[in-house]
Amino acid sequence: MEVKATVGDIIRLPADAILVGIFEGEAPQGIVAEIDQALDRTISNLIADGEIKGKLYETTIIHTMGKIEPKRVAILGLGQREQFSMERIRRAVGEACRRLKKIGVQRIASIPFGVEEGKIEPQKSAQAIVEGCILGTYTFLYHKTKPPEEKEISELVVVSKEEGLLSFLEEGCALGKIMAEATNLARDMVNQPANIMTPTRLAEEAKKVAEEGGLEIKILDKEDIAKLGMGAFLAVAQGSYTPPKFIIMEYKGGKPGEPPLGLVGKGITFDTGGISLKPAEGMWEMKGDMAGVAAIIAAMKAIAQLKPKINVSAFLPATENMPGGSAFKPGDVLQALNKKTIEVISTDAEGRLILADAFCYAKTIPVSCLVDLSTLTGACHIALGDYYSGAFSNNPELLEKVIKAGKEAGERHWAMPMDEDFKDELKSEIADIKNVGGRWGGAITAALFLAEFVGDTPWVHLDIAGTARSEKERGYIVKGATGFGVRTLINLVLSLAEEMRGGER
Ligand code: BES
Ligand code: ZN
Ligand code: ZN
Repeated sequence: MEVKATVGDIIRLPADAILVGIFEGEAPQGIVAEIDQALDRTISNLIADGEIKGKLYETTIIHTMGKIEPKRVAILGLGQREQFSMERIRRAVGEACRRLKKIGVQRIASIPFGVEEGKIEPQKSAQAIVEGCILGTYTFLYHKTKPPEEKEISELVVVSKEEGLLSFLEEGCALGKIMAEATNLARDMVNQPANIMTPTRLAEEAKKVAEEGGLEIKILDKEDIAKLGMGAFLAVAQGSYTPPKFIIMEYKGGKPGEPPLGLVGKGITFDTGGISLKPAEGMWEMKGDMAGVAAIIAAMKAIAQLKPKINVSAFLPATENMPGGSAFKPGDVLQALNKKTIEVISTDAEGRLILADAFCYAKTIPVSCLVDLSTLTGACHIALGDYYSGAFSNNPELLEKVIKAGKEAGERHWAMPMDEDFKDELKSEIADIKNVGGRWGGAITAALFLAEFVGDTPWVHLDIAGTARSEKERGYIVKGATGFGVRTLINLVLSLAEEMRGGER
């Protein structure tokens, strides 16, 4: 999709469809009133008839029959004026563009929503439009052998009459495109089945990103992992014929020697549960148990494009979790890189095992702080539902920054408790710690297990088990992988870089 901003009159653009908005319960204003006039008051009439209400997600498509240059006008419900936001633009545009794509529209132009009303900055509006369109029209057709009926949207133009806005709109379009395409890259990796998206393939994807973006990359194999002493990671990998990989990506935009921000992801390319085998129903979804790693590889791609002045390193353990003759077993005792011993109660609590070693490794670099993205517990999905990731941290300031970065992106993270009281659950009779607590608060005990390996490095753990996949199509979310977390990480890195370099020229 080609994305651009232009100065001009949207009424005179040869587009297949133009996007305009109506706030709930309001009459057409500004540019929308002009279009309404040109269309013999069709929009006002539809409002009077109650067909257009302006509710969020409502899209009304009107054919212009030659009265203006664009073939169609799509009137997007923007919801209540007071609640208007970047996120509402993304959702409304996502929903509308998906509908337009279904009816064969290829060239779309949009006004920058909310700018005329002074509700939102022009670059933010353009960014949200581009994100909504690219994310909302995403499809995963890799394995379809017949050509798709729906054509791709070829062009999205954000148009304003005000010349002074152009550079802001261009800036927003460029950022939105990078953010959305990175998110879709993560979605692609997560949607791929486990016979294709193996640890080796994940490493190849990371390598491609690194080569294109000028990042440094190291890919450690099973021998390296064993030699380093990553006993917990190795144990998870040992039941599988498919070899594990430990992927390390480095972006160097900051000063040489400045400790990087460390990103860690859970990269289980398929989670059968191991010997603590999962039930058959829904097991296929566990091909997405590498969504954390996918999000980080994708975010690294965007970071390489945006070039913020900060160092960022990614530490990505990738393996299958399989039952087999050589698989690790409940009751086994493992030794992590930092020498701590772990009693395995369930081989299905494997994510925390590979993360433990990844944290230990990252700490040897060392890193300034750590953020991990992990589809860690079903308990987190149960606790918070489909729309919030669980955010666990040993550092309130960093937690606040992560939550804020998410808010910008429309990705919601909910701060969860991790008091010491819960830690009793992880006491082992024979080792330093066990890998599973009791029945209650499973997301919390999982986070407390991780904390043992993070130590005092400032850290935020995002449990994305509930948010990495969607069963529904809504706004810019489509069925399947969501790419959740990619845009939070990009925003976080941009804001940390700005903060660090605040005083410099
Ligand atoms: N990969 C799962 C968590 C998960 C569940 C992710 C559903 C996405 C959707 C994880 O490895 C797991 O199996 N966790 C167990 C932990 C338990 C054994 C303590 C769980 O949540 O049941
Ligand atoms: Zn598991
Ligand atoms: Zn898992």
